[in-house]
Amino acid sequence: MSTIDNHNYLVSVSTEPFVITQFKHHNYLLFSLIIPTYKERENIQNLVIRLTQILDGYIPGEYELIIVDDDSPDRTWEVARMLMVDYPQLQVMRRQAERGLSSAVIRGWQIARGDILGVIDGDLQHPPQVILQMLDAMVKGADLAVGSRYVDGGGVSRWSILRRFLSRGAQILGLMILPWVLGIISDPMSGYFLVRRSCVAGVTFNPVGYKILLEVIARGNVGKIAEVGYVFCERKQGESKVTWKQYLDYIHHLLRLRLSTGNLGRFSQHMGFPIGRFFRFGLVGLSGVFVDMAVLYLLSDPTTLGLPLIRSKIIAGEIAILNNFLWNDAWTFADVAMQQKEWEQRLKRFIKFNLICLAGLVLNVVILNLVFNLILPNSYIANLIAITVATFWNFWVNIKLSWRVTQVK
Ligand code: GDD
Ligand code: MN
Repeated sequence: MSTIDNHNYLVSVSTEPFVITQFKHHNYLLFSLIIPTYKERENIQNLVIRLTQILDGYIPGEYELIIVDDDSPDRTWEVARMLMVDYPQLQVMRRQAERGLSSAVIRGWQIARGDILGVIDGDLQHPPQVILQMLDAMVKGADLAVGSRYVDGGGVSRWSILRRFLSRGAQILGLMILPWVLGIISDPMSGYFLVRRSCVAGVTFNPVGYKILLEVIARGNVGKIAEVGYVFCERKQGESKVTWKQYLDYIHHLLRLRLSTGNLGRFSQHMGFPIGRFFRFGLVGLSGVFVDMAVLYLLSDPTTLGLPLIRSKIIAGEIAILNNFLWNDAWTFADVAMQQKEWEQRLKRFIKFNLICLAGLVLNVVILNLVFNLILPNSYIANLIAITVATFWNFWVNIKLSWRVTQVK
């Protein structure tokens, strides 16, 4: 699953699913702590020294530190590897094929040997000594021990009003979208926590963005949670990697977790129906309606081109189909499309999509007629029913034929 290259770096397999394996008893360790880093060359040595002092006094020989660096341009990985000489409990993963804080943490846990898995920032903003209280909580039976800025003993140092506002705003938004995850702890944004392996083993994670704790609570099987207060220190070296993109990632992450772990998600799993995909497919279809309308107007309206209606509609319909195809290929079925991205394969998908949509249109007209003439003489309601049926048809047949999930090269 992971290998060591000839410079002593751990290498993870980036195409591997984000699944952590069950505990293996033959190379037992009590505790594995992941340190994700990106451009932390000035911090990493101090952090390793501090953590080693603390952990050697508590669980000597029973822990490992794993730095997962995303090929930092400041060569943090190189500094980290040099430390391995003096700190044999340290391992370094240099990732070149993947990037991102959350996925770094999962990749680290995947190669970890410990029964308790943890994560700490690499910039010394998480005070290392707090780890002892968290370990203590785990030993006393917690499944998850979270460093929190919002319980006794916790806090932030010199945060601007804006940053406090953004942080709390993000939390409130999260509470609205995913109350059963964010509602059960005081600091769901924390990136400083320990979790028992048995609570996350076998689960397929989908780590996007920064907030790995949400992923762990939402998808893992966590029972008892302990919170330990800590003060989020100021950075002394380097700078934060948070940009506006992280806020967008965060919202995306919340929605994705909501769809896959909420009632709808459970329903979808139970029924074997890919509700997330269907939602995206429907949204793309809606965008097609607007494209169709706009093109129809541009082509047929007397004030614009004034082309005959039928001809305009055919062109508008085809452009809408192209629009839908491109979005579906890039978004709805991106994972499938990625594996078949030669242009012949794309063209083939496009032709199939076209034919299926055409058949969908025929189906649409037939159902509209049937419903209108036999069941309910209201053309709008009949049309709505026809559109719904045709959308399901389009979706299912396209999954089976155009973006075939099971297709092997
Ligand atoms: N491997 C890897 N890849 N590490 C990363 C990446 C990445 O793409 N981006 C950031 N890191 C590392 C940083 O080097 C640092 O060690 C840690 O992740 C946190 O990043 P910062 O950029 O310092 O984030 P922050 O100071 O705003 O911290 C916020 O996020 C933390 C992590 O979730 C706060 O919300 C903290 O409470 C939280 O712990
Ligand atoms: Mn930081």
